[in-house]
Amino acid sequence: MTVTQERATVGFGRTLRKEDARFVRGKGTYVDDVVLPGMLHGAMLRSPYAHARIVSIDTSQALAHPKVKAVITGETLQGLNLAWMPTLSYDTQAVLATDKVRFQGQEVAFVIAEDHYSARDAVELIEVEYEPLPAVVDAKRALDPDTPVIRDDKEEQTTNRIFDWEAGDRAETDEVFARADVVVAQDMLYPRVHPSPLETCGAVAHMEPATGKLTVWTTTQAPHAHRTVYALVAGLPEHKIRIIAPDIGGGFGNKVGIYPGYVCAIVGSIVTGAPVKWVEDRAEHLMSTAFARDYHMRGEIAATRDGKILGLRVNVIADHGAFNATAQPSKFPAGFFHVFTGSYDLQAAHCKVTGVYTNKAPGGVAYACSFRITEAVYLVERMVDLLARELDVDPAQLRMQNLLRAEQFPYTTPTGWEYDSGDYPKTLQLALEMAGYDELRAEQRRRRERIAAGEKLPEMGIGVSFFTEAVGAGPRKHMDILGLGMADGAELRIHPTGKAVLRISVQTQGQGHETTFAQIVGNELGLPTEDIEVVHGDTDQTPFGLGTYGSRSTPVSGAATAVVARKVRERARIVAAAMLEVSPDDLEWDAGGWQVRGDPDQRKTIQEIALAAHSNLELPEGVEGHLDATTVYNPPNLTYPFGAYVCVVDVDTETGQVKVRRFIAVDDCGVRINPMVVEGQIHGGLADGIGMALMQVMAFDQDGNHLAANFMDYLLPTAMECPSWELGETVTPSPHHPIGAKGVGESATVGSPAAVVNAVLDALAPYGGRHADMPLTPAAVWLARQGRPLRTDLAIE
Ligand code: CDP
Repeated sequence: MTVTQERATVGFGRTLRKEDARFVRGKGTYVDDVVLPGMLHGAMLRSPYAHARIVSIDTSQALAHPKVKAVITGETLQGLNLAWMPTLSYDTQAVLATDKVRFQGQEVAFVIAEDHYSARDAVELIEVEYEPLPAVVDAKRALDPDTPVIRDDKEEQTTNRIFDWEAGDRAETDEVFARADVVVAQDMLYPRVHPSPLETCGAVAHMEPATGKLTVWTTTQAPHAHRTVYALVAGLPEHKIRIIAPDIGGGFGNKVGIYPGYVCAIVGSIVTGAPVKWVEDRAEHLMSTAFARDYHMRGEIAATRDGKILGLRVNVIADHGAFNATAQPSKFPAGFFHVFTGSYDLQAAHCKVTGVYTNKAPGGVAYACSFRITEAVYLVERMVDLLARELDVDPAQLRMQNLLRAEQFPYTTPTGWEYDSGDYPKTLQLALEMAGYDELRAEQRRRRERIAAGEKLPEMGIGVSFFTEAVGAGPRKHMDILGLGMADGAELRIHPTGKAVLRISVQTQGQGHETTFAQIVGNELGLPTEDIEVVHGDTDQTPFGLGTYGSRSTPVSGAATAVVARKVRERARIVAAAMLEVSPDDLEWDAGGWQVRGDPDQRKTIQEIALAAHSNLELPEGVEGHLDATTVYNPPNLTYPFGAYVCVVDVDTETGQVKVRRFIAVDDCGVRINPMVVEGQIHGGLADGIGMALMQVMAFDQDGNHLAANFMDYLLPTAMECPSWELGETVTPSPHHPIGAKGVGESATVGSPAAVVNAVLDALAPYGGRHADMPLTPAAVWLARQGRPLRTDLAIE
């Protein structure tokens, strides 16, 4: 689809992205671009085993390398009380292994040398003696009595169980199921995937011995949270730590947590007295940094014979890897998974999630979604499709029959979520109309007749999905991460000439914040976007806030921005009243200025007011002058964007190849600040969805060897796999957000995998296959066509 780019300089609209001026010229500054005088280079030694006891580590040869300055091991860190660090889920994670290694690729030793290549060479000179142990790879076996306990470093940990967590009313749900006409059950796996941003993780740490100030340039989505965690862990005073997140080459949830490499770079700088750079390579990134999903789910859906969905029951085993480093608000060990009732009006629901340790890398992050919502949406959207098949009704029609109605909002789900606003049937209707749904079904019938008559043609499949996201974490009374409340600050400074500087805590990783946040200020104050500079990604220059993930930027920091701009506007009102010699109550705001009510000739623009605010204009007693303001925004609720997706595929049933022919996406993210940026976010998310549905999986062999540590094995979608997206929109503003916006950054990744899988399985319906697990590789499709699942070990008790 062609997107027209217009230049709108004030307020909302398709303003070109300001940041692209440097990006398209190759002038971005990423962590690896940071070069400091006297800088040393770090490299990591990693475990070749998934599970093994460390017998000994001999660093003598590495230390003898002429360019090596230091070698740090777990023992070195133990002396500093830094061998273990806290995770975002109140667990501990080894910075460098001391007792055992618990996943392949785990960090064992850190070499610091004069240059990158010498550091890498010296890593090879370290000798580690391991005593291999059996690896726990299958999450469903993790709790078997004879399975080795992975976390034997923790006294209280006698099994591999991390948590059991429930939501909803089990008894009520059982009762609903008992009186249902139809119950459909299905085991399914949302496989382990990896966010894989273009830029891998890294840090340049510089502890200034003279001032005691630590500066860390690092790949983080949450600079302020990192600073606080470093302060707590290392016992350094917070004001002596400066975290700078320069340009970040994508995050997608992968750059929320703290990795051992960051800590080693910091310790390396303290030990050597010089700046230390550590940047991992692609294989290290894929093997050791945060993964996503890995949910083994059993879903059950109950309905009446005439298609009224009554209830959902879900059992999940969540594979968290060797350390519980999943990132989500403290109260929700399974993230927001219990939003799994999705977009439907049902009577009761219950879910139980059991988190387990396995010998795999830690993580469980919100990869382009709010915490665990992608898993939830996939589950419910597959279950609704399976129900449609069981009832022999059209899946779009079944959804239409059961979607929440506009008059039910604000709507409280059976598991306690309060959806703010929506008109779901309207959005689905638009998607069906854009797709030409009835004609597509007619084409499919004609195609099937020709195939039945012996013609060799690909099968055609049509998949529908609907999703509700829950973004903007979150209300401080309900949510925190490691005890830190999730409110965001914003500061707005107006210079005498009417130029503005907005300082925010959220960190862009490519989402265009420097443009869209300037547009929010511009919309509130009537200033041109070009006159507003957005500062972010530096803890010394911005107010505290918890960072960017789970599409929280617009719902939280975007709201903070609108609120602080309104504060500035109110300060400007007092100054304008003094300028016009009237009472502030006599003034009204109109497109960039205050004017006397009923007399628009008596008017002062925001630029004139800014200059006057810094002049010798006499102001009423107690009025400070200047227009600068600060705020902290504590969201009263999450915002709930939603959307309806239709996917059309052609499946070659001889080779198992799937071609996504069309993809129609109608998104509702409330008021759009910059429709062009929103569409870009959706394009990326849809591509991601196709990747997850058809290509991406982090696979392991039975010894825990990683089988997807490069982009030849871990397949990411490219333009070749994507159709020309067909986008539509509906606009249902969030009633509590100051500008009525909801988040959008990640919606498309949440909603699209189910649409693709539903389409492929719809194509295979004549062959009887009811379910197959993602990714639907040609082999999986081919087996599903035979009515056989690719995996046979999915049953969850
Ligand atoms: O937190 P993150 O930036 O990843 O997600 P977001 O808040 O959904 O925003 C993604 C980008 O889309 C930002 O540049 C937003 O300002 C923009 N956006 C928009 O223009 N209008 C909306 N209603 C929502 C987001």
